Amino acid sequence: MGTEEGLAETVAQVEALDRRVHAGVADVRDLDGLAAVLDAGGAELGRLDVVAANASRIDPGAGRPAAPGPHPAPHPTREIAMSTVPQRLTGKTALVTGAASGIGRATALRLAAEGAQVFCADIQAEAGEATAAQIRDAGGDAAFQVCDVSDEASIVACVAVAVERYGKLDNLSNIAGLGHFAESSQETLAGWNEIIGINLTGTFLFCREAIPHLLATRGSITNCASTAATKGQPWSAAYSASKGGVISLTQTLAVDYGRQGVRVNAIAPGVVDTPISGQFTPPEGVDVSLMDRIMPLDPERFGYPDELAAGFAYLASDDAGYVNGIVLRIDGGMQA
Ligand SMILES: NC(=O)c1ccc[n+]([C@@H]2O[C@H](COP(=O)([O-])OP(=O)(O)OC[C@H]3O[C@@H](n4cnc5c(N)ncnc54)[C@H](O)[C@@H]3O)[C@@H](O)[C@H]2O)c1
Repeated sequence: MGTEEGLAETVAQVEALDRRVHAGVADVRDLDGLAAVLDAGGAELGRLDVVAANASRIDPGAGRPAAPGPHPAPHPTREIAMSTVPQRLTGKTALVTGAASGIGRATALRLAAEGAQVFCADIQAEAGEATAAQIRDAGGDAAFQVCDVSDEASIVACVAVAVERYGKLDNLSNIAGLGHFAESSQETLAGWNEIIGINLTGTFLFCREAIPHLLATRGSITNCASTAATKGQPWSAAYSASKGGVISLTQTLAVDYGRQGVRVNAIAPGVVDTPISGQFTPPEGVDVSLMDRIMPLDPERFGYPDELAAGFAYLASDDAGYVNGIVLRIDGGMQA
């Protein structure tokens, strides 16, 4: 094996297996059998790795081992050591959406480690409460509220409860989000509306509700965009548009409120090892060589959530007091 034809066949096999694992009728360990074939892939190996890596992330909670061989092993969870981070947020209060998982969870932990009182929000009750409990167990101050970012009333209530609890708001980190791959001509209105509704409209509504409180504290907002918004990403019309909208929203709010002391910035993560990766499976029949466009610079080095959290902490801190309206790419050089 090693010919273009053979590799294309292997890609098709990996994709088919990926769909079967999604459907619950195959185990991710079945990828083992393809490892030797991928080994012969040479220059093609990188894009095969991404397909395989996505497959190997589908159900991390089930404790299945990652496929061995050329597939990059999932990064171990890294927890920040509370004692080693700077204390830049003492006395500040932050509201973090998406705090149940991935980048949002890491950010809630990091902001708390830097001294902030953290109000965590997410649609996942148990995991969100676990984040807040972890902060409290470490001696920090945190609360959790279930919030559906696709629902205006839920957002209005969430900001009100956060301000009632802590008396003020200094930072809003808008991180909740979701996405999927779809061939643009096949994207449904429901799929489009779900992604735009959560990633863009939800971000806007949280900003709208928070701004009166941030004006009172000369606080800040940090929104979560994506490298999908700063360069064309295949099969991502809704996701890329939502994140492009987040960047435009961020710049507009930065100008609207910058003279009143409120800073509004965005972070554009590259490929970060979180459960969201499992939502992005190449559609059937597409040209998977386009995966090259979304490969990390080092195909085996995905970002860690806490590396993104460090960016959110910086932008929430007074160290970033003259930083307003930027998009901070944290992507390991992917789009350098
Ligand atoms: N992981 C990456 O490679 C990557 C790359 C670029 C951008 N991002 C962005 O980073 C952000 C965080 O994603 P992640 O990678 O940590 O993924 P994740 O799946 O670990 O976390 C997403 C969180 O958003 C929450 N969420 C989803 N829908 C919600 C809703 N309706 N209401 C409230 N909460 C909801 C989920 O429950 C989850 O806790 C997202 O905005 C995502 O688009 C991630």
